[in-house]
Amino acid sequence: MTRILGIETSCDETSAAVLEGSGDDVRQKSLVILSQDVHRVFGGVVPEIASRAHLTSIVPVVQRALGEAGTSLDGLDAVAVTNTPGLVGALLVGVSYGKALAFSHDIPLIGVHHMEGHLFATALEHAEAVPPFTALLISGGHTLLLDVEKWGKYRLLGATRDDAAGEAFDKVAKLLGLPYPGGRYIEQLAATGDPTRFKFARPMVRRNALPTDADYYAFSFSGLKTAVLNAVRSSPDIEADKADIARGFQDSLVETLVEKTARGADAFARRRVVVGGGVACNRTLAAAMRTRLEPEGITVFTPSPRLATDNAAMIARAGFFRFEHGERSGLDLNAYASSPIPGLVAA
Ligand code: KG4
Ligand code: ZN
Repeated sequence: MTRILGIETSCDETSAAVLEGSGDDVRQKSLVILSQDVHRVFGGVVPEIASRAHLTSIVPVVQRALGEAGTSLDGLDAVAVTNTPGLVGALLVGVSYGKALAFSHDIPLIGVHHMEGHLFATALEHAEAVPPFTALLISGGHTLLLDVEKWGKYRLLGATRDDAAGEAFDKVAKLLGLPYPGGRYIEQLAATGDPTRFKFARPMVRRNALPTDADYYAFSFSGLKTAVLNAVRSSPDIEADKADIARGFQDSLVETLVEKTARGADAFARRRVVVGGGVACNRTLAAAMRTRLEPEGITVFTPSPRLATDNAAMIARAGFFRFEHGERSGLDLNAYASSPIPGLVAA
């Protein structure tokens, strides 16, 4: 049995978790997430404030995760820490602390790619959410459609050409005067909106598209955001219209995400679809995925909100996989604002 501590500080959540197990039988012993609410005041994450907040909370967050798991640092087999992608100053706090723990207790250190963490999150709750599957990773900074043949082997089918899905939600929320991060407020508002009033185009979804087309799996949300901006500007009464606009926006985005995911699952004849990242909290999306894919015999797995948004359990889980495959990071492990997910194979 292996016991791993995970640390996540890539953005505005300071998180630590302890996992135990082996192979695909890995159990979560603890998960502590401290969200930095201070950024709401600024309508977005302020990098330096995020780094300083990680610095003050990393020690108590890790201690609490160890305490809840009933273990001490001496009981750990490895430390897994997010080292990319994210805000470099924020990442450096977790990376430096993880290094210090690994060095002082003479245990292995494993640098984890944040998006590989999102890929593994659902497997912590659903034993069947394991490869092969089609993965849609949708967060505040990334939108990735992957074919996952096995853990560690990822075919990148499509990514966003501009805004990430979560970013589109957050920007539209801002246009509608909603708090940051706005995804869940858009979802709430859209639930009361009229779906027939604002019909925005579905980005990059053409009826007779072919798998050989360059945009067959690609995403683009900036045009949709501009269309929303125009609707907001030309509205005579935005208070009366905003629920209908939110509904039109969400319907367009959801339909695009579902269509591209269905294309990926069909092309590789996958029977499972795994959705991850903060936007996976969106229940309208999950319901639309299931309505579209279940009749085709495809099971859709989504994580609970706590594991969908940034957390250290997913980092420990991805670290587990890397650890069992003999991967170790040196004490020269660095932090990077962006880098491709490891294990990519040619499309
Ligand atoms: O994965 P995550 O916690 O952080 C990043 O790695 O970026 O994702 C955060 C994103 C934000 O853009 C937030 O608005 C979005 O997830 N989000 C949602 C919902 N809940 C969170 N988007 C749509 N609907 C939701 N219910
Ligand atoms: Zn994330």
